[in-house]
Amino acid sequence: MQKKNILIVGGTSVIAEHCVRIWLSQQPCDLILVGRNNYKLQRVAKDLICRWPQTNIQLQVMDFLDANVIQSYIQTLTQDFAIDIALIAHGSLPLQEECQLDIVDCKHSLEINGISPVLFAEAIIQSMIKNNHGKLGIIGSVAGDRGRGSNYIYGASKSLIDTYAQGLQHRLALRKSAVTVTLIKPGPTATPMTKDLVIKGKLADPKHVAKNIIKAISNSRKLIYTPSKWLLIMLIIKNLPSVIFNKMDI
Ligand SMILES: NC(=O)c1ccc[n+]([C@@H]2O[C@H](COP(=O)([O-])OP(=O)(O)OC[C@H]3O[C@@H](n4cnc5c(N)ncnc54)[C@H](OP(=O)(O)O)[C@@H]3O)[C@@H](O)[C@H]2O)c1
Repeated sequence: MQKKNILIVGGTSVIAEHCVRIWLSQQPCDLILVGRNNYKLQRVAKDLICRWPQTNIQLQVMDFLDANVIQSYIQTLTQDFAIDIALIAHGSLPLQEECQLDIVDCKHSLEINGISPVLFAEAIIQSMIKNNHGKLGIIGSVAGDRGRGSNYIYGASKSLIDTYAQGLQHRLALRKSAVTVTLIKPGPTATPMTKDLVIKGKLADPKHVAKNIIKAISNSRKLIYTPSKWLLIMLIIKNLPSVIFNKMDI
């Protein structure tokens, strides 16, 4: 079976880790995990190597907000690593109240959840377009579909990704490129990001979310909600008139 070259930005994300496990169970892969913390990256890599000892894994630590670093790393990497699949999976869920009280927190959330994924995607897509090959997945969120009082700073950064992915898909379609971009919108999922979150209802299983992500990227889907029930939920929420929506504490 042919080896796949896979790049994960946010290599320690639990959702991404489950995606990687599925990819490795499907075929041999050369893997690059990009993260901010070497110790955590090594822990993920060791676990993967125990399960799939033949896997070649490279780790890269970097500042996710430095456009120069991102650009030069991706440019150098892609000189001899033709990416088959890239998944941009980093993000952090800030406390909305802290963002309201301190615009430094607000700025950080907008940057790490919105600007940083777009910078990585732009750098990666340049090389994919050059090769006319590759599948890019970007993780947005259902939170980007409609601003809510309880998390609109995080939501706003995720809606930036939404518009970005739409525009990128349009650009690729116009040039009839073979490169595909999949925007992934998970609902609340049981990962470290949500460990302190109090929600009504159950958190989704990251394994299930990962399965849906793999399938969507492989089928070059433009957009998925995962679990799929969130498509209907968000359709209703997006279309609620504001006179009703603004009375609901959701
Ligand atoms: N879990 C959910 O309910 C949910 C719902 C909708 C969308 N999402 C999105 O799904 C993606 C994956 O999240 P997850 O659920 O798998 O959560 P997770 O396991 O907590 O992973 C978050 C990832 O983001 C990285 N990260 C956070 N802040 C960073 C920073 N300042 N610089 C660099 N990396 C940073 C983390 O690195 P460290 O390990 O070093 O901290 C980790 O790799 C994110 O984009 C998230 O917004 C999640």
